[in-house]
Amino acid sequence: MQNFIYALIQVIHNFGAVTVVGTAASALWLVRGNAAVQNRLALLAAVAWAIQVVSGMLFGITTYYFEHHLPDIHGIAVDALLVKISCAVAGFVLAVAYARLNPGWTVTRQLIAWRALLILGVIALGSAAFLRWFS
Ligand code: HEM
Repeated sequence: MQNFIYALIQVIHNFGAVTVVGTAASALWLVRGNAAVQNRLALLAAVAWAIQVVSGMLFGITTYYFEHHLPDIHGIAVDALLVKISCAVAGFVLAVAYARLNPGWTVTRQLIAWRALLILGVIALGSAAFLRWFS
């Protein structure tokens, strides 16, 4: 049962990871210059970053529920987790700011925001590999 729950959480977490990277890549390379679509992508990105935080926490909550302690991780795994959490918080704040404020932003500022979102997604995905193999 515990593994089944981890697997379900992982499904959500994996689709969230695809979405945070995919929205930024699409905004930069598929619909650059289309403000309406980019705005919808920013909303989707904000939802995806939030899903990453919630589903990430659900991994820990599940371990706590079944084993009465939090996951036992040290060193590089903790660093990788902290990097992921930082990226998720920054990505969520930036995506929400974009969705709410971007009509007043210059094209250059919009471009910087999408590049930052893409970089945050790539760093978080990279950190996931280190969390996986050092935990
Ligand atoms: C608050 C933020 C986050 C938390 C607490 C969190 C937590 C976790 C945990 C506990 C795992 C399971 C690790 C294991 O298999 O040992 C995991 C896996 C994973 N996370 Fe996150 N995560 C967060 C954000 C992110 C973000 C932002 C991304 C990508 C954009 C991401 C991508 C992944 C991927 C791809 C895996 C699967 C790794 C694998 O098994 O190879 N996570 N995450």
